[in-house]
Amino acid sequence: MSKKVSRRQFLTYTLGGTAGFLASGMLFPMVRFAIDPILRKGEKGNFHDVNLKESEVTDIPKQVKFTEHRKDGWYNPPKGETLTAWVVRVKGEIIALSPICKHLGCTVNWNSNPMYKNEFFCPCHFGRYYKDGTNVPGTPPPKPLDRYEVKVENGRVLIGPLQKT
Ligand code: FES
Repeated sequence: MSKKVSRRQFLTYTLGGTAGFLASGMLFPMVRFAIDPILRKGEKGNFHDVNLKESEVTDIPKQVKFTEHRKDGWYNPPKGETLTAWVVRVKGEIIALSPICKHLGCTVNWNSNPMYKNEFFCPCHFGRYYKDGTNVPGTPPPKPLDRYEVKVENGRVLIGPLQKT
């Protein structure tokens, strides 16, 4: 039994194939453009000099600010993002804590509530953390504060990427 291709079928296949080829040529760059930021590798975490000498870090948390230039998908603020860290020495080790409460993301402050001296306090729902960022049991935060990587170079404190807990 011979399988002849009719003129109509031939035209359908040829035009269909050509249309598909042209459509894929148009669609590929569009899809690539749409997902490009996701495909790019993130910038390696930089360390920031926060204008703090190692010798100035004590057991009383100090607030430092620094500007992070980072791209997160399409989020890429041209002037960067100002971040805050609380830098403190705990048992000889320098740590830098994120001020973002692990309950619902409000901002914590050191020693800001006279009822809870020497603790980080979150005013939103009375969340509390010890000096090393550990959440006080029985308060809303379920986890300790996140920490930034820290290193000391030439006697100066450098703050690196955030390490999520
Ligand atoms: S957001 Fe901090 S205690 Fe709720």
